[in-house]
Amino acid sequence: MKDKLNRKLTDLRISVTDRCNFRCRYCMPEELYGEAYEFLKKDQVLSFEEIVRLTKIFIKLGVNKVRLTGGEPLVRKNIETLISSISSLDESVDLAMTTNGYLLNKFANILFSSGLKRLTISLDSLDNDIFQKMSGKKFNVDDVLMGISSAKKAGFKNIKINSVIKKGINDEGIIDLVDYCKREGHILRFIEYMDVGTLNSWNRGSVLDSKKIIDIISKKYPIHPVSKNYSSEVADRYKFDDGEGELGFISSVSNPFCMSCTRSRITADGKFVTCLFSNKGLDLKKHLRSRATDEDILNLISENWLIRNDQYSLDRSLEKGKVKDKIEMFQLGG
Ligand code: GTP
Ligand code: 5AD
Ligand code: SF4
Ligand code: SF4
Repeated sequence: MKDKLNRKLTDLRISVTDRCNFRCRYCMPEELYGEAYEFLKKDQVLSFEEIVRLTKIFIKLGVNKVRLTGGEPLVRKNIETLISSISSLDESVDLAMTTNGYLLNKFANILFSSGLKRLTISLDSLDNDIFQKMSGKKFNVDDVLMGISSAKKAGFKNIKINSVIKKGINDEGIIDLVDYCKREGHILRFIEYMDVGTLNSWNRGSVLDSKKIIDIISKKYPIHPVSKNYSSEVADRYKFDDGEGELGFISSVSNPFCMSCTRSRITADGKFVTCLFSNKGLDLKKHLRSRATDEDILNLISENWLIRNDQYSLDRSLEKGKVKDKIEMFQLGG
């Protein structure tokens, strides 16, 4: 099954909750998401049974990678139950999670034993003041580091650390992050700051292009590019010349990768979204809660994929196609 631009559907990213214990400035600024903000109510969020039913249908359609996101996936109660159910659907599916890591110390063992295969942790700075400024909370970065270390002890291999770099905010900490990940054996990936959602007053000037980050790192550590693990991988991979460690650069602004985008997303309230920058989604929850059969839902998803022509990042780089009222990052995961 291929979309209008000849892209298969192989990845599914599921937002299991719109809630988060952080208030990152580029995603959920505290002043907009304080006490008064109404997150989705329990019955508006897909149940585990509904998520599993959908996942099974997506696997039938060709999905072989499933990533749990949020909001923050670890604030969803009993998330390990969902992991066990998905992992028992099909052992060969690559089941991963992206988390901010704050609750990881508590959950690492149970996540691993429930069948989660891979973990990505977001970490923008090792400097506690900058970490707090970016994450919008008075949490301690050491707690995240402890979570990462527990994940390693629990058995997770090739842990990935995602770092969003904002010019003038956390760019001075790039080398510290590299030192830390190299020492610990984690794969550090730098993400160019993007104009996701409607709230982060993004401007091109606050993006530090991957090329510049590579220059900064190369002054201390010679590195060289290596080929992607699979054709739709978002990160350009680099290895250290000394043979120890790997880096990744996700250059969605300076070098968009829409032409190989095989990713689909489900929001916490059950909308099927075919681009990170969409302002609309197909309401699957409505169908899950009606008399629709699995086959009906499968047909709906495939009809939607066949007409997909999303290429937002590419359009942005060509300075065309502005999208109004985009879905927020915390509603559809990264
Ligand atoms: P692997 O399965 O390990 O290759 O992970 P991944 O790179 O698919 O997952 P991850 O969630 O770590 O993605 C890293 C980041 O890349 C996300 O948080 C987003 O910021 C960005 N990203 C992922 N997919 C897309 C996409 O389709 N479009 C754009 N523009 N950015 C994306
Ligand atoms: N630009 C780039 N990455 C972002 N993320 C959240 N908002 C943005 C943005 N505007 C990242 C988080 C996390 C992942 C889920 O998405 O830092 O690593
Ligand atoms: Fe939470 Fe992730 Fe958004 Fe930060 S970027 S507020 S950790 S969902
Ligand atoms: Fe895929 Fe949309 Fe990201 Fe392009 S901007 S890579 S189409 S999710």
